[in-house]
Amino acid sequence: MNYTEKLNKLIEQKFNYVPLVNVQTFGCVQNENDSEKIRGILNSAGFGVSDSFENSDIVIFNTCAIRENAELKIFGNIGKLKALKANNPDMIVAVCGCMVMQPHIVAKIKKSYPFVDIVFGVNSIEELPYIVYNWYIGNKRQVSDPVVKTDVVENIPVYRQSRSKATISIMYGCDNFCSYCIVPYVRGRERSRRPEDILKEFTQLVADGYKDITLLGQNVDSYGKNLEPRVDFADLLNMLCKVKGDYVLHFMSSHPKDINKKVIDVIRDNPQISRQIHLPVQSGSNRILSLMNRRYTVEQYKEIISYARQQIPDVGFSSDIIVGFPGETYEEYLETENLVKENGFTQLFTFIYSKRKGTKAAELEDNTPHSEKTERLNRLIKIQQDIFFKYLESFNNKTVRALVEETKPGGYSARLANTLVVHFKTDRTDLLDNYVNVRITGKKGTVLTGEII
Ligand code: 5AD
Ligand code: SF4
Repeated sequence: MNYTEKLNKLIEQKFNYVPLVNVQTFGCVQNENDSEKIRGILNSAGFGVSDSFENSDIVIFNTCAIRENAELKIFGNIGKLKALKANNPDMIVAVCGCMVMQPHIVAKIKKSYPFVDIVFGVNSIEELPYIVYNWYIGNKRQVSDPVVKTDVVENIPVYRQSRSKATISIMYGCDNFCSYCIVPYVRGRERSRRPEDILKEFTQLVADGYKDITLLGQNVDSYGKNLEPRVDFADLLNMLCKVKGDYVLHFMSSHPKDINKKVIDVIRDNPQISRQIHLPVQSGSNRILSLMNRRYTVEQYKEIISYARQQIPDVGFSSDIIVGFPGETYEEYLETENLVKENGFTQLFTFIYSKRKGTKAAELEDNTPHSEKTERLNRLIKIQQDIFFKYLESFNNKTVRALVEETKPGGYSARLANTLVVHFKTDRTDLLDNYVNVRITGKKGTVLTGEII
């Protein structure tokens, strides 16, 4: 009997109801995808899935380590469970994900958060039935030290809450070692799933009626490097696009040093691939890009964007930017500002540099006051806001196709293939998870408004 079966049997004996698991996700889409696996694994072992931690038998925090404020927020949230755990000692409190791949964080939880029962890292998800089983039989803390992993585990059950949107991890880890980034240290070396396994999962999702499918990887453009026979990301996209169906295929994230003309050409030739590409630039200064170990120049970045715009007239680019990298001068910040003004990103995710223990950039001298960094961030946000509002206005009176994602009072919220959101009113109540055509009439905050036609 495997541990999923053993746990199933044990909870049947232990509970006279279906026990519930609640997974709370912090951080990126990759973490969301891991959470769906965690729910899937425990669901197979007999747990129901709950949206709230209050009545749950297991609460799991799937954590993020990308910036210090993410970690502080998570510790705040974990702290709030102390009282709940005191009232309900049988409830299991677990912490997993990127944050607990750092030994100093595991040590901190061990010492200062005694009510946390289980700690497991990103590479131990499939061990969960074993870990929970052990907790129930021994009722003592299960703190696994971070494990390094070099292989890919297939056939993990996935519990998807949406009936129309899904993500597929095509690779794990990252080999780029951008000097500011903790990801290669917590998620380990890059490894790709075999194309036939991805194709199988993708084909099933399309057959199940999923309409918005995102391929995930820290750097999707380097997909396949460890595979034999060698396939690359463009080959994978080509292979998936042969699957017939009514869907939009997205991918994230791309890396400017690895995205190439072959990938752009495949997007051009396959209308089911989203025309919205997330291509993080991080900085508009070549000196800073080099210190960040990004391995491309601003000129090379602009070149690939210009090729894509030539080939795919309706392509849009979103990006990530870090301001206040150690030693970034005001002039270098202005170069980023200029790039943003010149390039017209459809969406920008802007961050203040956060020092991460163990990374190369943490060793660099950083004399810029935090107040100055905040000012740079706010200026950039303001510039992007104006660009974004003009972009939203460019949709006025256009008819767009959008996938209905959520009910709203008197109507729905739907998402365009380019990831913009539109709200519309209607008396119909049967539109969830379906495509609709909407005529755009205006905007409200950062979303479009329209009427269904
Ligand atoms: N500080 C600030 N932002 C960071 N990112 C990654 N590491 C850091 C850090 N140490 C940002 C990058 C990346 C995005 C996911 O998070 O912009 O593209
Ligand atoms: Fe971090 Fe760079 Fe890898 Fe992205 S590509 S996860 S920024 S090291």
